Amino acid sequence: MAKSSSFTDVSSGGEYFYFADGGYTASGSGKLIDVLNPVDGSVLGRTQAIIRRELDAVIESAWRQFPCWRDTPLRERAELLHRAARIMEREADALADILCDEIAKPLKSAREEIVRTAEIFDFTAEDALRLEGETKFSDVFAQQKRDKISLSYRVPLGVVLAIGPFNYPFNLTGTKIAPALAGGNACIVKPPSAGAMTCLYFGAILREAGLPPGVLSIVTGKGEEIGDYIVSHPGISMIAFTGSSSTARRIASKASMVPLLFELGGKDAALVLPDADLELTASQIVSGAFSYSGQRCTAVKRVLVFEDNAHALVERITALASKLAVGPPRGNPVISALISPAQCGYVQGLIDDALEKGATLLCGNRREGNVLHPTVLDHVTTDMRVAWEEPFGPVLPVMRVKSLAEAIDISNRSEYGLQGSIFTGDINSAINIAMQLDVGTVQINSKTQRGPDHFPFMGTKSSGLGTQGTRYSIEAMTRMKSIVLNLSEKGKVELACSAG
Ligand code: NAP
Ligand code: G3H
Repeated sequence: MAKSSSFTDVSSGGEYFYFADGGYTASGSGKLIDVLNPVDGSVLGRTQAIIRRELDAVIESAWRQFPCWRDTPLRERAELLHRAARIMEREADALADILCDEIAKPLKSAREEIVRTAEIFDFTAEDALRLEGETKFSDVFAQQKRDKISLSYRVPLGVVLAIGPFNYPFNLTGTKIAPALAGGNACIVKPPSAGAMTCLYFGAILREAGLPPGVLSIVTGKGEEIGDYIVSHPGISMIAFTGSSSTARRIASKASMVPLLFELGGKDAALVLPDADLELTASQIVSGAFSYSGQRCTAVKRVLVFEDNAHALVERITALASKLAVGPPRGNPVISALISPAQCGYVQGLIDDALEKGATLLCGNRREGNVLHPTVLDHVTTDMRVAWEEPFGPVLPVMRVKSLAEAIDISNRSEYGLQGSIFTGDINSAINIAMQLDVGTVQINSKTQRGPDHFPFMGTKSSGLGTQGTRYSIEAMTRMKSIVLNLSEKGKVELACSAG
C-alpha cells in the first residue's frame, strides 16, 4: 500500500497549495491547474494558478528575509541542508509514490530521484563549507608597488529563481535550491506544471529542517501565463533554468540583466569505432537511449557507426531494445507512458518522417495510448528530421558513416552540444576524438549521462549556459566581492640586501 507523507498541509482533497512565508496557501485567483496522469489522463490533483500580486508578495518576502539568511553562519546553513536531506530520505517512499503517478516515472527510478536529491543536498552543504576566497598582491604589474592587497570572497546574489523540467521535477529543482540556500540566497521555485505536486513538498521539508519563513517560496502556475512576469521581475537576481532550448531562448529575451544558468536539450551521439566491444556498446546504448522512455536530456539520441560493424551492432541493439519491459510505471518497466499525447504525436511524427524518407524499421513503431514501444531505426540519413531533432521519447536512429571525419562532422553539425559517447578499445583515439567533439562532456565507453553530481555538467550551443554540479552551482549563484587594503609606508623597514 502507498505510504503517505508526514506533511498534512501541502494538499487537501486533491487540491495542492502554493508555498509562501512558511505556509501553504490557496491563490486568490480561484483558478486551479489539473495535474493529469500521463497513463490514462485522469486528474491526479490540482495546483494553484497564482497571480501577479502573489508573485510580488513572495519576492518581497524573499528580500525581507535575505539579509538574515545571508548572515546566518555558513555552518548553520550547511547543517540545515543536511537535516533536509534526512527528511527527504524519511519521506522517500511517499514522495516517490506521487512522482511515479505524476510523471509516469518507474517507481524505483522515482525513489532514486528523491534519494539522489538528498545526497546532492548533503554534498552541496559540504562543498559550501570548503569554498575559499583568495588574496592577491599588487606588485605583479610593472608600475605597481607592493602596497595593495585584495581580499576576495563569495557573496550571495540575492533572490534566485529556480525553474525545473517535468522529467526530474524534484531532482532538477533540488539541484538549484540546495546551492542557492548554501550560498546564502533566498530562493523562489517555479515548478513544472507536470511534476508540481512532488516539487511542492520542498517547502514542508525545508520548513521542518528549520528554514525561516520567506527564504524559500514555491509558486505554481503555467509557464506561459506567469513565466514572462516572473523572469523579468526586477526582484529576481539570477535565473537557474532546466528545460527546453526554446523556453530558454524566451527567458533570455525577457530577463533583465541577471546571470543565467541554463541546462537544456541535447542530441547526444554515440560514436562506435570499428574496434568497440559490441556487447558493452549495445547494452550501454540501449540503456542510455530508452530509460524513462527516452525522456532524458542526456539520452543517447543518435548512433554513428561504421558500415563494417553496423550490422553486428544493430542486431545486438535490436535484440535488447525489443526485450525492454513496457507497462505501467508502478511495475518498474523501462518504457511507460510519455508525458502527454502531444509528445507522443511529436515522436510519432519523427518516426513517420524517417520511414517515408527510407529509414529501416528494426523494432517498435507501435503506440498504445501514451505508450510508444521502443523504436530502432537503421539507415537514417541527414535529410531526416530524427537525425537532428530531440525526440524526448523512445526512438533511436542509427546512422552509418564511412569515416571518422564524417562521424565527427555529423555530431558537431547539431544545434545541440550536451554530451557525446565514444566506444572504442583504443584510448588514444578516444581522447583525440573527444577533443574534437563540440559538446560539454564526452563519455568514453559509457552511455551519456549526468553525474556523479559533483562532476561539472554543461552544454554548448543550444544545450546550455554555464556549469552545474554541486560546487559549480554554488559558484554560479554567488559572486566575487573584493576588499582592497591600501597600505601606507608606516611600519615598513628597508632591509639591507646582500649583494651576492
Ligand atoms: P519546458 O517546456 O521548457 O519547461 C521547463 C520549465 O519551464 C517548466 O517549469 C515550465 O513550466 C517552464 N516554462 C515554460 N514556459 C515558460 C516561460 N515562458 N517562462 C518561464 N518558464 C517557463 O521543458 P520540459 O518539457 O519540462 O522539459 C523537456 C526539455 O528539457 C527537453 O528539451 C530536455 O532536453 C530539457 N531538459 C534538459 C536537461 C538538462 O539538464 N540539460 C534536463 C532535463 C530536461 P510549465 O510546465 O508550467 O509550462
Ligand atoms: O534530463 C536531464 C537530466 O539532467 C539527465 O540526468 O543523466 O542522470 O538521467 P541523468
